[in-house]
Amino acid sequence: MKKITIAIDGFSSCGKSTMAKELAHQIGYIYIDSGAMYRAVTLYCIENNIIHDGKIDTDKLKEHINDIHISFKLNEQTGKPETYLNGKNVEDRIRTMEISSMVSPVSAIDFVRTALVAQQQEMGKAKGIVMDGRDIGTTVFPDAELKIFVTATPEIRAQRRYNELHEKGENADYEDILSNVIERDYIDQNRKVSPLKKADDALLLDNSNLTHEQQNKWLLEQFHRACETKE
Ligand code: DC
Repeated sequence: MKKITIAIDGFSSCGKSTMAKELAHQIGYIYIDSGAMYRAVTLYCIENNIIHDGKIDTDKLKEHINDIHISFKLNEQTGKPETYLNGKNVEDRIRTMEISSMVSPVSAIDFVRTALVAQQQEMGKAKGIVMDGRDIGTTVFPDAELKIFVTATPEIRAQRRYNELHEKGENADYEDILSNVIERDYIDQNRKVSPLKKADDALLLDNSNLTHEQQNKWLLEQFHRACETKE
């Protein structure tokens, strides 16, 4: 069977990454979390004093952009891919609220997007990839054979992120998370470069009231349909 490209876009915290990861695992495709790449750039900025007092020194970031190398490696124990920044495992550090609160402005910078989109396109050259993000179906892989745009209500998404952080033992306040979700939705949809937008040919998936099993079944059906169309 010919391999296809699968683009999964949508709002933050609507389970895109989990769904994309599981789908990739089930069909034997590579999974790339493009949001993790923007998060890793944000962590680099914090560690290198490019962000201070919530302000981004864009000139300094531009000077350093080619020093930021992001890769993914499978954790053999958990079976899950983890994010590496310049050879260091940063998977846990990029998921904190500190990073979540700074990542949207970093991802709105044009030269950051240009650099990461080029890396993402390179990763997807051989197809057989599931990539999730905000602009995968519109900018990174406009010719993807299967495009899905995922959404759920802000309250449901905030609750999911709250549960996730709590499970990891991180202190989190639901109201703070909800305002972070709403603020990120706004920045993601209104930035000048590659705003979050459903591609015209993307399938809409509102998973507010779907069980994990229902969603999984739907995704596999769409995958098989897209493969048949491609044959
Ligand atoms: O999916 P996430 O919450 O880990 O993404 C983190 C941030 O990165 C989010 O605020 C939007 C941004 N992002 C983006 O602009 N383009 C992508 N392809 C992926 C993420």
